[in-house]
Amino acid sequence: MRIDVLTLFPDLFTGFLATSIPANAIEEGALSCHVHDIRAFAANKHHKVDDRPFGGGPGMVMMCQPIFDAVTAVESQGSTASDRVVDGMVGGMSDRAVRVLLSPQGERLTQSRVEWLAQQPRLLLLCGHYEGIDERVIEELKPLEISLGDYVLSGGELGAMVIIDAVARLQPGVLGHEESAAEDSFSVRTPEGAQLLDCPHYTRPREWNGRVVPDVLVSGDHGAVARWRDEQRIERTRTRRPDLLQQDSRTNSQTQPQPLPAANTHKPVTHVAKATRLNASDSGCELHGQTAPESA
Ligand SMILES: C[S@@+](CC[C@H](N)C(=O)[O-])C[C@H]1O[C@@H](n2cnc3c(N)ncnc32)[C@H](O)[C@@H]1O
Repeated sequence: MRIDVLTLFPDLFTGFLATSIPANAIEEGALSCHVHDIRAFAANKHHKVDDRPFGGGPGMVMMCQPIFDAVTAVESQGSTASDRVVDGMVGGMSDRAVRVLLSPQGERLTQSRVEWLAQQPRLLLLCGHYEGIDERVIEELKPLEISLGDYVLSGGELGAMVIIDAVARLQPGVLGHEESAAEDSFSVRTPEGAQLLDCPHYTRPREWNGRVVPDVLVSGDHGAVARWRDEQRIERTRTRRPDLLQQDSRTNSQTQPQPLPAANTHKPVTHVAKATRLNASDSGCELHGQTAPESA
């Protein structure tokens, strides 16, 4: 899978992409991640990317031209999962990217949407900043707008990192063992399709601060351990997130990704992470301070 990030602050991604799961995914060749500086695409002498809002008011608004040209240029670049070229310019065949705009006004990010995003061959993550982005370029690009939650961040970069991390860990071979993502919260489901929270986990020592690990976990009875974990998942979900148990993932819009805007179509590809159903039988990073061709 290839992910392109368009941002005014590419340096924010340096440590992130070199650490933990995103770094593993890149190292494994399951993910290539390309971070592009929108400012490099500004077609004006001083690489200006924002201006004051029409109608007055506080803050600055990101201009259409640098964003549109950056998207166009980056989308014309190659896209295979393992392309690790220095400047991203592979040329020729390219999968169409799913365009994602990080926005507090977008669809709230869920694990179901993450699973869907993780199956796409290519994502383009657009990070806003300041007061946001000129509405006309949003209308033109028709991105899928995704929100981290009902609060306002200074920029979309943290949201882009959240998406990269969440989809990277679903790529085959990235986590230590394939099943671990499938047993996380929201991936295990009831037979009716409701998402469940994960069970509690313990490690050594067996007793700490007077607190003892549940006997069943040291019993050596794998069937009993599995049953206990299933019970814990249901009980935790019932007490902490009862709303999840009322949702049927096949019909509920909270857990089921909604269709993309018309122009932002995608190709379906193979499933990457196996969801677990209780009681069912199926149990190269580059940081581009990329310089665009200087426009006149
Ligand atoms: C200060 S915010 C702009 C907020 C905008 N004026 C509004 O009220 O809807 C700047 C940028 O941060 C990002 N951002 C802020 N909050 C976000 C959230 N909850 N989820 C995703 N991105 C967010 C978006 O990319 C946004 O363009």
